[in-house]
Amino acid sequence: MLQKYNTKNDDILVYINGELLKRADAKVSVFDSVVQGGDAVWEGLRVYDGHIFCLDRHLERLQNSAHALAFKDIPSNEEIKKALFQTLKANNMDDGVHIRLTLTRGKKTTSGMDPRLNQFGPTLIILAEWKPPVYPPQITLVTSSVRRNSPMFLDSKIHHNNLLNNILAKIEANHAGADAGIMLDKDGYVSEANGVNLFCVRNGTVYTPYASSCLPGITRGLVIEICEEEGIPVKESNLSITEFYIADEVFTTGTMGELTAVSEIDGRAINNKKDHAVLDQINQHFHQRVQSKKLGIPIE
Ligand SMILES: Cc1ncc(COP(=O)(O)O)c(C=O)c1O
Repeated sequence: MLQKYNTKNDDILVYINGELLKRADAKVSVFDSVVQGGDAVWEGLRVYDGHIFCLDRHLERLQNSAHALAFKDIPSNEEIKKALFQTLKANNMDDGVHIRLTLTRGKKTTSGMDPRLNQFGPTLIILAEWKPPVYPPQITLVTSSVRRNSPMFLDSKIHHNNLLNNILAKIEANHAGADAGIMLDKDGYVSEANGVNLFCVRNGTVYTPYASSCLPGITRGLVIEICEEEGIPVKESNLSITEFYIADEVFTTGTMGELTAVSEIDGRAINNKKDHAVLDQINQHFHQRVQSKKLGIPIE
């Protein structure tokens, strides 16, 4: 699945540290930490009907990621919200929009890894694009040879811009003609796919890998919450790839594509014996929560 370019995004304005710039002029310095070392944290956000969905949860993760990486002068949630609202208003955007929110460690005085060279404060980038959910109704997956980081190497609880192992997994998926690559953890259990969390359903119980090696996705958390609130049995567990092959249903979660059914993994059809019954039920509750706007923050 390759995202298509939307010409509505020709004229978008991008926010960089207080300035709103045309996309051709929206650039960061070659001395910026994100260029030098992928030294940045980010969130993907979605705008539904005048509200930024789960914004408080995303900002909490952004703040935690920046704090864990020992960023200095991290902007407050209020400052970030103001910048988000300013960007959306400048673009007349209030629905069908995806936002890539990035906070880098900022510019350095000279090339080098040392964060003491970062003397200008962080760089805040808000890239809002017209982009309804991107996945088709069903996707296919292949298992990648690239392992997802464990806390031994780089803790997946930090939502950082060092995405190369995920990108390598996506390249393998592209070569195999699949939509995304499943990444195992260091022990061979399923962690997540390269850009989405994974769930499987067996005999009415919903399972998802522990968040020891996967990103604790906001959508993943919401799906667990929905199951708990709606009386659908749900468990975090160590899950092997075989458990996904033989599951009744498999689906992915993420802000970019919401909840998406998986039809095939490594050439094995997912049986879907009950015709997506559990996914459909969770999806219905997910969309109810989107429509109720209770989890959204209105654009001011
Ligand atoms: C590696 C990875 N897994 C899962 C997700 C989904 O997370 P969320 O539900 O917070 O969008 C993302 C999205 O950024 C991701 O990059």
